[in-house]
Amino acid sequence: MSILEARGVTVRFGGLTALSDVSVTVEPGTVHGIIGPNGAGKTTLFNVICGFTRPTEGSLLVRGEPLRNHKPHHLARLGIARTLQGLGLFEHSTVLDNVLVGADRHARTGALGALFGRGAREETALRERAVEVLTTLGVEKWANALPGALPYGLRKRVALARALVSEPDLLMLDEPAAGLSESERTELVDLIGGLRESMAVVLVEHHMDLVMTVCDRITVLNFGRVIASGPPAAVQADPDVAEAYLGAAP
Ligand SMILES: Nc1ncnc2c1ncn2[C@@H]1O[C@H](COP(=O)(O)OP(=O)(O)OP(=O)(O)O)[C@@H](O)[C@H]1O
Ligand SMILES: [Mg+2]
Repeated sequence: MSILEARGVTVRFGGLTALSDVSVTVEPGTVHGIIGPNGAGKTTLFNVICGFTRPTEGSLLVRGEPLRNHKPHHLARLGIARTLQGLGLFEHSTVLDNVLVGADRHARTGALGALFGRGAREETALRERAVEVLTTLGVEKWANALPGALPYGLRKRVALARALVSEPDLLMLDEPAAGLSESERTELVDLIGGLRESMAVVLVEHHMDLVMTVCDRITVLNFGRVIASGPPAAVQADPDVAEAYLGAAP
């Protein structure tokens, strides 16, 4: 069964159709790229999946179940985590505390937890888990630093750690490589590639090269429509895709 399915999603902003009858199916344990030139509708689709934007038509299914009245604060209990374009870190909290914010999904399990707040033992377990994720991402040294003290590439890792600490089944990334150096991008590709063992990843990217190396499946949008979808090699060989990218003058 798919982890996520968008069925015939259309989004209109006034007279502008940002997405038109878009269908995407994300299988568990795969990295699924959503690519397309500027203004193609990638972020709009991302926002629909995250519950920020309500589709004008169409529906979303998570593990085969249709979502009703989908909102961003439902994501955690659906087992979905996200990072946004940019960082979204709390600048006055330490790196570790920023990551702990992402652990809410576990903290809120059970009625007792909701009534009495986190127990001390649970708090300790959460911190251990957060440190573990920071270690996996190579930023544990900065656990007690403020995010502002870190270079941009490392701050991006902290944002990723925050998403990973909830142990999602689906991780949504919007342009994770934006602002990264060449070598940081290579590291990111390795990192994302390694995630598919434990979760599905939806990767929204402007850049073809990164997506081609790391994705199992790719959906290409142009002017709000799906113009191609399939494995990277097939998508890369598709003349419509080449034309969309050539036509998109910077
Ligand atoms: N809130 C909004 N209100 C009106 N129009 C919008 C809104 N959000 C997006 N759009 C329009 O919808 C279209 C798709 O935009 P979107 O941001 O989804 O593209 P994108 O593929 O993410 O582009 P980029 O590569 O530049 O990030 C664009 O024409 C954009 O101007
Ligand atoms: Mg965008």
